[in-house]
Amino acid sequence: MPAIEVESLEKNYGSLKAVDGISFSVNKGEVFSLLGPNGAGKTTIIEILEGLRQQEGGTTKVLEMDPWKMGYELHKRIGVIPQGFKFLDYPTPKEAIRFYGALFDKKVDAEALLRRVILEEAANTWFQHLSGGQKQKLGMALSLVNDPEVVFLDEPTTGLDPQARRAVWEVIRKLKTEGRTVMLTTHYLEEAEELADRVAIMNHGKIVAMGTTEEIEAKYGSGQRMVVKAGDDLLRFLKENTKLQVRGDGGSVTILLRDKDDALVALGAIEESGAGWGDLAVRKDSLEDVFLKLLGDEGKTEKEED
Ligand SMILES: Nc1ncnc2c1ncn2[C@@H]1O[C@H](COP(=O)(O)OP(=O)(O)OP(=O)(O)O)[C@@H](O)[C@H]1O
Ligand SMILES: [Mg+2]
Repeated sequence: MPAIEVESLEKNYGSLKAVDGISFSVNKGEVFSLLGPNGAGKTTIIEILEGLRQQEGGTTKVLEMDPWKMGYELHKRIGVIPQGFKFLDYPTPKEAIRFYGALFDKKVDAEALLRRVILEEAANTWFQHLSGGQKQKLGMALSLVNDPEVVFLDEPTTGLDPQARRAVWEVIRKLKTEGRTVMLTTHYLEEAEELADRVAIMNHGKIVAMGTTEEIEAKYGSGQRMVVKAGDDLLRFLKENTKLQVRGDGGSVTILLRDKDDALVALGAIEESGAGWGDLAVRKDSLEDVFLKLLGDEGKTEKEED
């Protein structure tokens, strides 16, 4: 049984189709990442799944429950960090966890939970004095108070420095090893590459690509290529002596690697041509390259805004 099942989901705000007929499912224990530019509809979907917004069309099931009709039951079994998580200024993380525990009628070992999200050093610091990363880690801790089966993390690392971001990644990896299902949104595509079993790239309320990162890169990326810093001599040599697909880019030569043989032939030919081995790299399109390609100029705007 999947943990999350969405079929032909629709949500409008006036004339805006914020979610326009989306279908996907997330297996138990999977980390699934929703990606897309600002306004794509990610938070809308997440909040429908959490039972906080009502959908207009389609069916939605989380842990086999309709989130809108069975919110009370569902909330006992899910954890949530809303986008832009905030809390009251004065409670400390330890107090906040106890408060949440009381809401769920659970006796929580606050110290153990703080250790789990690597926040024990700030256990007794007022929320208003926590750093951005510490605040997000507290958000993670609060989302785990009720030992949830599904955790919704809406941009849990936005605005964090690289070190704090990696600390949050560690916590997310732990959630997965514990068998929890994680739904993650992020604008950092390397984060999705690093953590997600599968991703869905959205734009204007629709999914434009879905699968594992490898599947998406293979389907929409330009494949592996070898790039050698060399001039026209090498380009000519490769064209005359091999069947490789090559192109010159002013100062470098790019060779498309269709299979392993191409790589071996390319290396042999480069050696034979006497072009030398300086500055040779093998590259392929990253998830970010594919994202920008699929979303065109909108993708670029999104990236620049980040
Ligand atoms: N309550 C609302 N009323 C009217 N329009 C809304 C409301 N909530 C969201 N929208 C609009 O719906 C669209 C989708 O918004 P949503 O917050 O789901 O996007 P998102 O993908 O989460 O974006 P971001 O990456 O900026 O968080 C946007 O155009 C937004 O302006
Ligand atoms: Mg959002």
